[in-house]
Amino acid sequence: MKRRDMLGMAAFAALAATVSLASISTAQAQDKKFHIGFSQATTIEPWRAQFNKDIIAEASKHPEVELIITDGEDKTEKQVADVENLIRQEVDALLISPKESAGLTGVVQKAIDAKIPVFVLDRNVDTKDYTQFVGGDNKLIGKAAGEYAVELMGGKGKAAGNVVEIWGGMGTEPAHDRHDGFHEFTDKEPGIKYLLDQQSGDWKQDQAYNIMATALRNNEKIDLVYGHNDPMAYGAYLAAKDVGREKDIKFIGIDGLPNEGVQLVNKGELTATFVYATPGAEGLRQALKFLNGDKVEKTITLPTEKITKDNAAEILKAKGL
Ligand code: FRU
Repeated sequence: MKRRDMLGMAAFAALAATVSLASISTAQAQDKKFHIGFSQATTIEPWRAQFNKDIIAEASKHPEVELIITDGEDKTEKQVADVENLIRQEVDALLISPKESAGLTGVVQKAIDAKIPVFVLDRNVDTKDYTQFVGGDNKLIGKAAGEYAVELMGGKGKAAGNVVEIWGGMGTEPAHDRHDGFHEFTDKEPGIKYLLDQQSGDWKQDQAYNIMATALRNNEKIDLVYGHNDPMAYGAYLAAKDVGREKDIKFIGIDGLPNEGVQLVNKGELTATFVYATPGAEGLRQALKFLNGDKVEKTITLPTEKITKDNAAEILKAKGL
């Protein structure tokens, strides 16, 4: 392409961007009171898709809210750029669910310094200067998973078995808390052995499948898989199924989405999952509360629930699934 054409295109693109920005801000100025930016880490995982649905549903109940959602596409640099953009747009509040702690801390601090109230959702950052954190208690969920794993492997003081643990993203607090909580119970059992050394599937089903396929090749006896989320527990289940060993193994996951984990438990593919509620609706409600001049707590902890064959069908029925 000739340089002149390229310049022409750049000028056209700049003009188009200005026009669309101008029309958005006119619409906003006319009928919306609060412009709330939400920086989502990624949308490819089922839990993230539900999270976005929840925040959009809540926003639709508040006509005074203009919600701007960005998708970090599972890349730290993209999410940093998204937040920079929201800061430039001077949003009234920033909600962020960071891909990882360290890489997003700087830009969160930048928003705080720009006097934008920041609501950190689900995964934390390395500063506590934000307005509020909303999310599940991952340590507690990990403990519940560990307690149940001990029960499944023979009970307190007698538990025995070989465990494959598949970590979520290593740079995230949920993965570390889910690990620590679990081990508070399982490490007390001398009969429990761990087959892997900190292997991360980065929350992804396909990566967990590969980790499990290797673990199956290297170990004749695997008794229990603990995946830090349901997609990874399910990936491990599929790897075991592909070599005909799924019946010998218990699979525990976390997230408990009705149309994912709960159904997998109901079908007997996962043994258990623990609900990790999305902070979409509550996060938006809290931001609005703050913008309307009310005080908000520093931390809001969302509840969890254990789901096994005993209650899965009932939960699905209640959800109309
Ligand atoms: C989705 C997800 C969930 C998990 C959460 C932890 O990106 O991996 O499956 O529970 O993030 O932050």
